[in-house]
Amino acid sequence: MAALVVRSVRDLLKRADFAKVPRRHRHKKKWAATEPKFPATRLALQNFDMTYSMQFGELWPSIRVSLLSEQKYGALVNNFGAWDHVSAELEQLNARDFVNKAHARGEQEPESSQTAAPSPASWACSPNLRCFTFTRGDVSRFPPARLGSLGVMDYYLMDAASLLPVLALGLQPGDTVLDLCAAPGGKTLALLQTGCCRNLAANDLSTSRTGRLQKILYSYVPQDIRDRSRVRVTSWDGRKWGELEGDTYDRVLVDVPCTTDRHSLHEEENNIFQRSRKKERQILPMLQVQLLAAGLLATKPGGYVVYSTCSLSHLQNEYVVQGAIELLANQYSIEVRVEDLSHFRKLFMDTFSFFPSCQVGELVIPNLMANFGPMYFCKMCRLT
Ligand SMILES: C[S@@+](CC[C@H](N)C(=O)[O-])C[C@H]1O[C@@H](n2cnc3c(N)ncnc32)[C@H](O)[C@@H]1O
Repeated sequence: MAALVVRSVRDLLKRADFAKVPRRHRHKKKWAATEPKFPATRLALQNFDMTYSMQFGELWPSIRVSLLSEQKYGALVNNFGAWDHVSAELEQLNARDFVNKAHARGEQEPESSQTAAPSPASWACSPNLRCFTFTRGDVSRFPPARLGSLGVMDYYLMDAASLLPVLALGLQPGDTVLDLCAAPGGKTLALLQTGCCRNLAANDLSTSRTGRLQKILYSYVPQDIRDRSRVRVTSWDGRKWGELEGDTYDRVLVDVPCTTDRHSLHEEENNIFQRSRKKERQILPMLQVQLLAAGLLATKPGGYVVYSTCSLSHLQNEYVVQGAIELLANQYSIEVRVEDLSHFRKLFMDTFSFFPSCQVGELVIPNLMANFGPMYFCKMCRLT
C-alpha cells in the first residue's frame, strides 16, 4: 500500500515538472510584467552613491541616510489670512518661526562683526515672511492646512529650505518680479507674501503644472491682492525670456528643473531616473544654463537673480552658475557678480545644515536632526 502511494506521488510530481511544459504555454508571473526590472528609485540611489560619495566624501553616508528618511516641513503662514491667530496656534504646537529667529540673530550680530563686509543688499532678506518649523531633532508633523476665517487657507506646507531662495532674493517694496519656472507655486506664493511685488510674472512651461499654480493662488491669495500685484501666469519656454522681455525685472527667481534628489529616491512616478528619461537627464545642465542665462537677460542692470535647485549635484549647481556667467560675458558682454551669502547662511544655521565648502552659492544638505533640503541657491547681481 505504502509503495503504491509513493509511486502515485512520484507520477504526480513528474506531471508537474514545469521544465517540460513547452515555452509557449508557460506564463510569466504578473509582477514581472508590471514592475520595472530596475526601479527608477534604485537607479537614482546607484547614481547618487557613485557621484555624491566622490563629491561629499565622508559626509555622504549621513546625507544618504537623511535623504532616505522622512523629510521635515515648514508651515509658511498666509499673511492674507488671520496670520496672528495662526502663528499663535503654531507656537502652541511648539513650532517656531525660523525667519523671525534669523532676524533676531541678525540684530544681535550686526554687519560689523563680519570679516569681509558684503554690501547689505547681498544678504538682505525679503520681508514679511513667517515660516514655522519644529526645532532640531523634533520630528513632529504639522496638521494639514485648513480654510481660515477670512476665506483663504491658513498656511502652506513646504520644505522650509525652499524659502531660502525667496529670502535671499531680498525683495524691496515696488519690485517687478519674474518667477521663471514657477509651478507648482510654493515660491510664487512666498514672493507674494512679502507684499513687495508691484507686478509678478509667474511662468512655467508645463500647462498642467501652471493649473496647479493657479489653484494655489486661488486658495491662498484674495482676488484684490492678485489684481494689485498684477499677477500674470504664463506657460512659455523660459529659455526665450531674454528675447521676450529683456532688461525688465528688478528681481528674477530661476528655480530650474533638476534631478529633484529626494523625490527621485522615493517616487517611481515622474522619476527622472527612469531609463526612458536618460537623455532628458543628461541634457539637464544645458537646459539649466539656458534658463539661468535667460533670467539674467530679463533682469535690469543693477537687478538681482537667484538660481536654485533641489539637487546636491555640483554639475547642476555651481557649474551651471559659472557656465551662465561665462555665456553672458562672451555672447552679450554682460557682467554678472556672484553675491557673498556667508552672512545670510550664518543667520539660518540654527535651522538648516549647510555644506561648508561651496565655491559659489549655498547648499542646504539633509541632516537627520534637521531633515530639510537639498536646496542649492546662488544670488547674482547683473552689473551691466
Ligand atoms: C523645480 S520645478 C519649480 C518649482 C517651483 N518654483 C515651486 O517652488 O513650486 C521646475 C519647473 O520648471 C519647469 N520647466 C521645465 N522646463 C522649462 C522651461 N523651458 N521653461 C520654463 N519652465 C520650465 C517644470 O515644468 C517645473 O515645473
